[in-house]
Amino acid sequence: MDFIQVDPQARQHVALIQLNRPKELNALNLQLMSELRDALRQLDEEEHVRTIVITGNERAFAAGADIKQMAGKTAIDMLNVDQFATWDQIRKTKKPVIAAVSGFALGGGCELAMTCDMIIASETALFGQPEIKIGVMPGAGGTQRLTKAIGKAKAMEMVLTGKFMTAADAEKHGLINRVVPVELFLEEALELATQVAQMSPVAARLAKEAVNRAFETQLDEGLHFERKNFYLCFASEDQTEGMNAFVEKRKPAFKGR
Ligand code: CAA
Repeated sequence: MDFIQVDPQARQHVALIQLNRPKELNALNLQLMSELRDALRQLDEEEHVRTIVITGNERAFAAGADIKQMAGKTAIDMLNVDQFATWDQIRKTKKPVIAAVSGFALGGGCELAMTCDMIIASETALFGQPEIKIGVMPGAGGTQRLTKAIGKAKAMEMVLTGKFMTAADAEKHGLINRVVPVELFLEEALELATQVAQMSPVAARLAKEAVNRAFETQLDEGLHFERKNFYLCFASEDQTEGMNAFVEKRKPAFKGR
Protein backbone atom coordinates (compact mmCIF):
# COMPACT_ATOMS: atom_id res chain seq x y z
CA MET A 1 0.00 0.00 0.00
CA ASP A 2 1.69 3.24 -1.15
CA PHE A 3 -1.02 5.79 -0.44
CA ILE A 4 -2.89 4.49 2.59
CA GLN A 5 -1.92 3.06 5.96
CA VAL A 6 -4.03 0.41 7.61
CA ASP A 7 -4.11 -0.48 11.30
CA PRO A 8 -6.52 -3.41 11.65
CA GLN A 9 -6.48 -3.15 15.46
CA ALA A 10 -6.44 0.57 16.25
CA ARG A 11 -8.83 -0.21 19.11
CA GLN A 12 -10.52 -3.41 20.13
CA HIS A 13 -12.63 -4.45 17.09
CA VAL A 14 -11.90 -1.10 15.38
CA ALA A 15 -9.70 -0.72 12.29
CA LEU A 16 -8.21 2.57 11.11
CA ILE A 17 -7.37 3.54 7.55
CA GLN A 18 -5.32 6.69 7.00
CA LEU A 19 -5.17 8.33 3.57
CA ASN A 20 -1.51 9.10 3.08
CA ARG A 21 -0.61 11.47 0.24
CA PRO A 22 -0.02 14.49 2.46
CA LYS A 23 1.91 16.62 -0.06
CA GLU A 24 -1.00 16.41 -2.53
CA LEU A 25 -3.56 17.00 0.26
CA ASN A 26 -4.58 13.34 -0.13
CA ALA A 27 -5.82 13.89 -3.70
CA LEU A 28 -7.60 10.67 -4.60
CA ASN A 29 -5.77 9.17 -7.56
CA LEU A 30 -6.74 5.83 -9.10
CA GLN A 31 -4.17 3.86 -7.12
CA LEU A 32 -5.20 5.34 -3.77
CA MET A 33 -8.84 4.51 -4.45
CA SER A 34 -7.97 0.93 -5.47
CA GLU A 35 -5.91 0.51 -2.31
CA LEU A 36 -8.80 1.87 -0.25
CA ARG A 37 -11.26 -0.48 -1.93
CA ASP A 38 -8.98 -3.49 -1.32
CA ALA A 39 -8.38 -2.55 2.33
CA LEU A 40 -12.09 -2.13 3.02
CA ARG A 41 -12.84 -5.42 1.31
CA GLN A 42 -10.25 -7.18 3.46
CA LEU A 43 -11.35 -5.55 6.72
CA ASP A 44 -14.95 -6.44 5.88
CA GLU A 45 -13.82 -10.09 5.87
CA GLU A 46 -11.80 -10.01 9.08
CA GLU A 47 -13.80 -11.35 11.98
CA HIS A 48 -12.14 -9.30 14.73
CA VAL A 49 -12.94 -6.01 12.94
CA ARG A 50 -16.42 -4.63 13.62
CA THR A 51 -16.15 -0.96 12.64
CA ILE A 52 -13.79 0.99 10.43
CA VAL A 53 -12.57 4.61 10.69
CA ILE A 54 -11.20 6.44 7.64
CA THR A 55 -9.14 9.56 8.23
CA GLY A 56 -6.61 11.87 6.56
CA ASN A 57 -4.45 14.31 8.49
CA GLU A 58 -5.04 17.62 10.24
CA ARG A 59 -4.66 19.70 7.04
CA ALA A 60 -6.71 17.54 4.70
CA PHE A 61 -9.09 14.63 4.72
CA ALA A 62 -8.86 14.75 0.90
CA ALA A 63 -8.87 17.65 -1.60
CA GLY A 64 -10.73 15.68 -4.25
CA ALA A 65 -10.07 13.40 -7.17
CA ASP A 66 -6.58 13.89 -8.60
CA ILE A 67 -7.00 16.77 -11.06
CA LYS A 68 -3.51 16.28 -12.51
CA GLN A 69 -4.35 12.67 -13.33
CA MET A 70 -7.63 13.68 -15.03
CA ALA A 71 -6.55 16.88 -16.79
CA GLY A 72 -5.66 15.40 -20.18
CA LYS A 73 -8.51 12.89 -20.39
CA THR A 74 -11.31 12.77 -22.96
CA ALA A 75 -14.91 11.78 -22.23
CA ILE A 76 -14.25 8.38 -23.79
CA ASP A 77 -11.11 7.89 -21.63
CA MET A 78 -13.24 8.64 -18.58
CA LEU A 79 -15.97 6.28 -19.71
CA ASN A 80 -13.44 3.50 -20.36
CA VAL A 81 -11.52 3.92 -17.10
CA ASP A 82 -14.84 4.39 -15.25
CA GLN A 83 -12.97 5.41 -12.12
CA PHE A 84 -16.08 5.74 -10.00
CA ALA A 85 -16.86 2.04 -10.38
CA THR A 86 -14.26 1.58 -7.59
CA TRP A 87 -16.34 3.88 -5.39
CA ASP A 88 -19.34 1.54 -5.79
CA GLN A 89 -17.33 -1.17 -4.05
CA ILE A 90 -16.50 1.20 -1.20
CA ARG A 91 -20.12 2.02 -0.56
CA LYS A 92 -20.88 -1.71 -0.43
CA THR A 93 -18.75 -2.20 2.71
CA LYS A 94 -20.96 -4.11 5.12
CA LYS A 95 -19.44 -2.96 8.39
CA PRO A 96 -20.13 0.56 9.68
CA VAL A 97 -17.56 3.09 8.43
CA ILE A 98 -16.90 6.43 10.14
CA ALA A 99 -15.04 9.35 8.53
CA ALA A 100 -12.77 11.41 10.82
CA VAL A 101 -12.39 14.67 8.91
CA SER A 102 -10.05 17.60 9.52
CA GLY A 103 -9.14 20.34 7.04
CA PHE A 104 -10.16 20.05 3.40
CA ALA A 105 -12.91 17.60 2.42
CA LEU A 106 -13.47 18.79 -1.14
CA GLY A 107 -14.88 17.27 -4.31
CA GLY A 108 -14.17 13.54 -4.14
CA GLY A 109 -12.97 14.09 -0.55
CA CYS A 110 -16.38 15.39 0.50
CA GLU A 111 -17.98 12.59 -1.50
CA LEU A 112 -15.82 9.97 0.19
CA ALA A 113 -16.75 11.33 3.63
CA MET A 114 -20.44 11.26 2.65
CA THR A 115 -20.08 7.66 1.44
CA CYS A 116 -19.14 6.76 5.02
CA ASP A 117 -21.97 6.08 7.48
CA MET A 118 -21.12 8.85 9.95
CA ILE A 119 -18.81 11.88 9.94
CA ILE A 120 -16.91 13.35 12.88
CA ALA A 121 -15.24 16.65 12.00
CA SER A 122 -12.62 18.86 13.56
CA GLU A 123 -13.49 22.55 13.91
CA THR A 124 -11.10 23.29 11.01
CA ALA A 125 -12.90 20.99 8.56
CA LEU A 126 -14.15 22.52 5.31
CA PHE A 127 -16.63 20.68 3.10
CA GLY A 128 -17.19 21.58 -0.54
CA GLN A 129 -17.92 20.50 -4.09
CA PRO A 130 -15.70 22.98 -5.98
CA GLU A 131 -15.61 21.01 -9.27
CA ILE A 132 -17.52 23.80 -11.06
CA LYS A 133 -14.44 26.02 -10.67
CA ILE A 134 -12.41 23.65 -12.84
CA GLY A 135 -15.07 23.27 -15.52
CA VAL A 136 -16.69 20.02 -14.33
CA MET A 137 -19.22 18.85 -11.73
CA PRO A 138 -19.28 16.33 -8.87
CA GLY A 139 -19.03 12.76 -10.15
CA ALA A 140 -18.90 10.48 -7.11
CA GLY A 141 -22.16 11.16 -5.34
CA GLY A 142 -21.90 14.88 -4.51
CA THR A 143 -25.04 15.98 -6.30
CA GLN A 144 -27.00 13.13 -4.71
CA ARG A 145 -25.75 12.68 -1.15
CA LEU A 146 -25.15 16.37 -0.43
CA THR A 147 -28.67 17.24 -1.60
CA LYS A 148 -30.19 14.53 0.60
CA ALA A 149 -28.10 15.63 3.58
CA ILE A 150 -28.46 19.42 3.52
CA GLY A 151 -31.41 20.03 1.17
CA LYS A 152 -31.70 21.40 -2.35
CA ALA A 153 -31.10 25.11 -1.72
CA LYS A 154 -27.80 24.76 0.17
CA ALA A 155 -26.58 21.89 -2.02
CA MET A 156 -27.37 23.80 -5.22
CA GLU A 157 -25.46 26.82 -3.94
CA MET A 158 -22.41 24.75 -3.00
CA VAL A 159 -22.42 22.81 -6.30
CA LEU A 160 -22.97 25.90 -8.49
CA THR A 161 -20.57 28.27 -6.71
CA GLY A 162 -18.02 25.85 -5.29
CA LYS A 163 -18.26 27.64 -1.96
CA PHE A 164 -17.08 25.71 1.13
CA MET A 165 -19.13 24.90 4.22
CA THR A 166 -17.53 25.15 7.67
CA ALA A 167 -17.73 22.29 10.14
CA ALA A 168 -20.10 24.31 12.34
CA ASP A 169 -22.49 24.89 9.41
CA ALA A 170 -22.12 21.28 8.28
CA GLU A 171 -23.30 20.19 11.73
CA LYS A 172 -26.14 22.72 11.69
CA HIS A 173 -27.37 21.46 8.31
CA GLY A 174 -27.12 17.76 9.13
CA LEU A 175 -24.14 16.83 6.95
CA ILE A 176 -22.06 15.55 9.86
CA ASN A 177 -22.57 14.04 13.29
CA ARG A 178 -20.57 16.56 15.31
CA VAL A 179 -17.66 18.97 15.49
CA VAL A 180 -14.87 18.64 18.04
CA PRO A 181 -11.61 20.49 18.70
CA VAL A 182 -8.95 19.64 16.15
CA GLU A 183 -6.82 17.65 18.60
CA LEU A 184 -9.78 15.37 19.35
CA PHE A 185 -11.34 14.57 15.97
CA LEU A 186 -9.68 11.19 15.50
CA GLU A 187 -10.10 10.20 19.13
CA GLU A 188 -13.81 11.07 18.97
CA ALA A 189 -14.27 9.01 15.79
CA LEU A 190 -12.44 6.03 17.33
CA GLU A 191 -14.58 6.38 20.45
CA LEU A 192 -17.78 6.36 18.38
CA ALA A 193 -16.46 3.37 16.42
CA THR A 194 -15.74 1.57 19.71
CA GLN A 195 -19.29 2.21 20.92
CA VAL A 196 -20.73 0.73 17.72
CA ALA A 197 -18.26 -2.18 17.93
CA GLN A 198 -19.76 -3.18 21.26
CA MET A 199 -23.12 -3.85 19.60
CA SER A 200 -24.08 -7.05 17.82
CA PRO A 201 -22.11 -7.07 14.55
CA VAL A 202 -25.02 -8.83 12.85
CA ALA A 203 -27.54 -6.25 14.03
CA ALA A 204 -25.16 -3.39 13.11
CA ARG A 205 -24.75 -4.72 9.58
CA LEU A 206 -28.49 -5.20 9.12
CA ALA A 207 -29.30 -1.81 10.63
CA LYS A 208 -26.77 -0.08 8.35
CA GLU A 209 -28.31 -1.81 5.35
CA ALA A 210 -31.78 -0.75 6.42
CA VAL A 211 -30.87 2.92 6.98
CA ASN A 212 -29.18 3.01 3.58
CA ARG A 213 -32.24 1.39 2.02
CA ALA A 214 -34.19 4.52 2.97
CA PHE A 215 -32.88 6.15 -0.20
CA GLU A 216 -30.87 3.50 -2.02
CA THR A 217 -33.03 2.80 -5.06
CA GLN A 218 -33.19 6.49 -5.95
CA LEU A 219 -29.50 6.81 -5.10
CA ASP A 220 -28.44 4.14 -7.61
CA GLU A 221 -30.28 5.91 -10.38
CA GLY A 222 -28.99 9.34 -9.31
CA LEU A 223 -25.37 8.17 -9.08
CA HIS A 224 -25.57 6.65 -12.54
CA PHE A 225 -26.98 9.88 -13.98
CA GLU A 226 -24.39 12.05 -12.22
CA ARG A 227 -21.49 9.83 -13.31
CA LYS A 228 -22.46 9.96 -16.99
CA ASN A 229 -22.74 13.76 -16.84
CA PHE A 230 -19.37 13.99 -15.09
CA TYR A 231 -17.72 11.92 -17.84
CA LEU A 232 -19.57 14.05 -20.45
CA CYS A 233 -17.92 17.21 -19.05
CA PHE A 234 -14.69 15.83 -20.51
CA ALA A 235 -16.08 16.44 -24.02
CA SER A 236 -15.94 20.21 -23.32
CA GLU A 237 -13.12 22.70 -23.86
CA ASP A 238 -14.06 24.22 -20.50
CA GLN A 239 -12.99 21.02 -18.69
CA THR A 240 -9.58 21.13 -20.41
CA GLU A 241 -9.23 24.84 -19.65
CA GLY A 242 -10.44 24.46 -16.03
CA MET A 243 -8.12 21.59 -15.14
CA ASN A 244 -5.13 23.01 -17.01
CA ALA A 245 -5.66 26.32 -15.21
CA PHE A 246 -5.55 24.49 -11.85
CA VAL A 247 -2.35 22.66 -12.79
CA GLU A 248 -0.77 25.89 -14.12
CA LYS A 249 -1.96 27.84 -11.04
CA ARG A 250 -3.92 30.49 -12.98
CA LYS A 251 -7.54 31.61 -13.29
CA PRO A 252 -9.53 29.68 -15.95
CA ALA A 253 -11.17 31.49 -18.88
CA PHE A 254 -14.36 29.54 -19.58
CA LYS A 255 -16.00 29.89 -23.00
CA GLY A 256 -19.12 27.75 -22.72
CA ARG A 257 -18.10 25.06 -25.15
N1 CAA B 1 -5.68 17.01 -7.39
C1 CAA B 1 -4.37 17.04 -7.60
N2 CAA B 1 -3.51 17.78 -6.83
C2 CAA B 1 -4.06 18.51 -5.85
C3 CAA B 1 -5.44 18.54 -5.60
C4 CAA B 1 -6.27 17.73 -6.42
N3 CAA B 1 -7.59 17.65 -6.24
N4 CAA B 1 -5.67 19.38 -4.57
C5 CAA B 1 -4.47 19.86 -4.18
N5 CAA B 1 -3.51 19.34 -4.95
C6 CAA B 1 -2.05 19.60 -4.86
C7 CAA B 1 -1.72 20.98 -5.41
O1 CAA B 1 -1.62 20.96 -6.82
C8 CAA B 1 -0.40 21.24 -4.73
O2 CAA B 1 0.59 20.51 -5.41
P1 CAA B 1 2.03 21.24 -5.78
O3 CAA B 1 2.63 21.54 -4.44
O4 CAA B 1 2.74 20.17 -6.53
O5 CAA B 1 1.69 22.46 -6.56
C9 CAA B 1 -0.59 20.59 -3.35
O6 CAA B 1 -1.66 19.64 -3.50
C10 CAA B 1 -0.97 21.58 -2.27
O7 CAA B 1 -2.11 22.32 -2.72
P2 CAA B 1 -2.15 23.93 -2.81
O8 CAA B 1 -0.78 24.49 -2.99
O9 CAA B 1 -3.17 24.30 -3.83
O10 CAA B 1 -2.65 24.28 -1.33
P3 CAA B 1 -3.54 25.52 -0.88
O11 CAA B 1 -3.57 25.47 0.61
O12 CAA B 1 -3.06 26.78 -1.54
O13 CAA B 1 -5.02 25.23 -1.44
C11 CAA B 1 -6.96 23.86 -1.87
C12 CAA B 1 -5.72 24.13 -0.96
C13 CAA B 1 -7.96 25.02 -1.72
C14 CAA B 1 -7.58 22.57 -1.37
C15 CAA B 1 -6.51 23.75 -3.35
O14 CAA B 1 -5.44 22.82 -3.43
C16 CAA B 1 -7.58 23.27 -4.29
O15 CAA B 1 -8.43 24.05 -4.70
N6 CAA B 1 -7.58 21.97 -4.66
C17 CAA B 1 -8.51 21.40 -5.61
C18 CAA B 1 -9.86 21.18 -5.00
C19 CAA B 1 -10.81 20.63 -6.06
O16 CAA B 1 -11.11 21.27 -7.05
N7 CAA B 1 -11.29 19.39 -5.84
C20 CAA B 1 -12.17 18.73 -6.77
C21 CAA B 1 -11.40 17.81 -7.69
S1 CAA B 1 -12.40 17.06 -8.98
C22 CAA B 1 -13.28 15.85 -8.18
O17 CAA B 1 -13.07 15.59 -7.04
C23 CAA B 1 -14.30 15.12 -9.03
C24 CAA B 1 -15.16 14.18 -8.27
O18 CAA B 1 -16.33 14.39 -8.17
C25 CAA B 1 -14.63 12.95 -7.70
